Amino acid sequence: MAAGDTAQAPPARDPRERGATVWLTGLPSSGKTTLAFALAERLRAEGHEVEVLDGDEIRAFLSGGLGFGKEDRHTNVTRIGFVAQRLASHGVKVLAPVIAPYAESRAAVRERHAAHGTEFLEIHVATPVALCSARDVKGLYAKQAAGEMSGLTGVDDPYEAPENPELRIQTQGRSVAESAAELHTFLTERDLA
Ligand SMILES: Nc1ncnc2c1ncn2[C@@H]1O[C@H](COP(=O)(O)OP(=O)(O)OP(=O)(O)O)[C@@H](O)[C@H]1O
Ligand SMILES: [Mg+2]
Repeated sequence: MAAGDTAQAPPARDPRERGATVWLTGLPSSGKTTLAFALAERLRAEGHEVEVLDGDEIRAFLSGGLGFGKEDRHTNVTRIGFVAQRLASHGVKVLAPVIAPYAESRAAVRERHAAHGTEFLEIHVATPVALCSARDVKGLYAKQAAGEMSGLTGVDDPYEAPENPELRIQTQGRSVAESAAELHTFLTERDLA
């Protein structure tokens, strides 16, 4: 940065007062929920207002009745995006650990945020499918392999990995604490933590 640039820098704001939506997209068992709650705990301890809009919880209430076809998945994601933007516009850090398999849905959420001048950060939790399948937290990969279910994202249902996420994190070979710290550092670099 040239010396004169500092004069034009916007006035410093407390990162705790800055709302943003941090969307964690990735395959089932990639680590989205785990990382969101780890990050939430740390941010809360640091004095941030934090809301976690977890995919599973939302599907039980706000998106109750929706299925897992393309259209319903899109509706689910845009609903969560709507709520996230409203909260973030009031200074809340909104963490959304939601698969969001379609690029078009994520783009719609991004556009809604941009239209309201609300920060939106797309984080790709880029755990390889083989490791997700070995973790298989909910037993879905095993069920799909046994022919007991179909439509599993990344296996027999689409997952359109983000091409230009704000951050792509690997969880393979990293502890939860390490990955959460990486996320926190990223927010710090953006003056959000
Ligand atoms: N570095 C890491 N970061 C995140 N999770 C990790 C890491 N290393 C191991 N794990 C483990 O991977 C699993 C991730 O499960 P989690 O429920 O967070 O996935 P998810 O992406 O939310 O899946 P779903 O889409 O099915 O809700 C947890 O058991 C977690 O402990
Ligand atoms: Mg989850």
